[in-house]
Amino acid sequence: MEFPQAEELLKEIEGSQPQTKEELEAFRIRFLGSKNAIKPLFAQMGKIDPEQRKSYGQFLNQLKDTAEEKYNRLKSEIEKESDRVTAGNMDLSAPPPPLKQGSRHPVDIVMNRVIDIFKKIGFSLAEDREIEDEWHNFTAMNTPEDHPARDMQDTYYLRDFAGMLLRTHTSSVQARVMTHQKPPIRIIAPGRVYRNETISARSHCQFHQVEGLYIDKDVSFADLKQTLLYYAREMYGPEAKIRLRPSYFPFTEPSAEVDVYWGLESETDHRITKGTGWLEIMGCGMVDPQVLTNCGIDPEIYSGFAFGMGIERQALLAYRIEDIRWLFENDIRFLRQFHSAI
Ligand code: DAH
Repeated sequence: MEFPQAEELLKEIEGSQPQTKEELEAFRIRFLGSKNAIKPLFAQMGKIDPEQRKSYGQFLNQLKDTAEEKYNRLKSEIEKESDRVTAGNMDLSAPPPPLKQGSRHPVDIVMNRVIDIFKKIGFSLAEDREIEDEWHNFTAMNTPEDHPARDMQDTYYLRDFAGMLLRTHTSSVQARVMTHQKPPIRIIAPGRVYRNETISARSHCQFHQVEGLYIDKDVSFADLKQTLLYYAREMYGPEAKIRLRPSYFPFTEPSAEVDVYWGLESETDHRITKGTGWLEIMGCGMVDPQVLTNCGIDPEIYSGFAFGMGIERQALLAYRIEDIRWLFENDIRFLRQFHSAI
């Protein structure tokens, strides 16, 4: 034996049979770790006969290589085996991990919340067309021919179809429902509307509204106010306050605009409420008797209230979004940030 200690170690390396991860780790520590058994043999180099030093060095390197090779081979074998065992134990009846799904659009989230709130008090869903005729969008809704809302500036008319337009508000659905249904009527109509407006951070040529309509015997302004207060508290919390300011809409009399108290805590609150703390969220009023008549409902027997709210505005507020255009650009980095169960 030329190098008895080294040869002893070689035998040990060749003879050891690690079977488990733990045994393999012990093998690694013994032959490849920072305090491995081969190291001290290198330190003895100086004591070796100079003529034999070269072959001693080569022998030690070979020893190291053998240990490394064995370690790598056994490592991959043990890993493969452990994968196989895991696969063998796999519960094939277990449900697969959930797929990553798309997220809901913020407008959709807010709209669904509004719908939910009104459904709870008996309003049912009435959806209708976005391409409307002038009669349902304007005439039935008591909007005279010379009313500024009919102006070419505001309304998208269809070039090839006389009298047809993209609805400018969901109030058109009021006319659709009233001409087809007998009271009592209690509906909400969510949907997209269009106006020929310059696109900016605050306004867009397309947006969403939710319309509400309630027609029955003896419906009063107090019913309207109470319904809106209920809405505000469901949407903005039990402490929410609202105020109604007299206003004008051709299809309601009296008409009002509804503000919700937003607060004045931050600088942004001051900016978005113009220093008042109040934010306008919708228009409303008692359905004008002329509108009832236009749609074939007798105003001597029935009365009702209506309201219409913008959704984007409430989405911008709820999520502190600064630019309405982001809602329509479909940038996935923006859309991924919104989650909701409804
Ligand atoms: N249609 C109106 C608009 O787009 C909003 C509105 C006001 C709807 C009063 C109503 C209402 O039903 O009663 O500005």
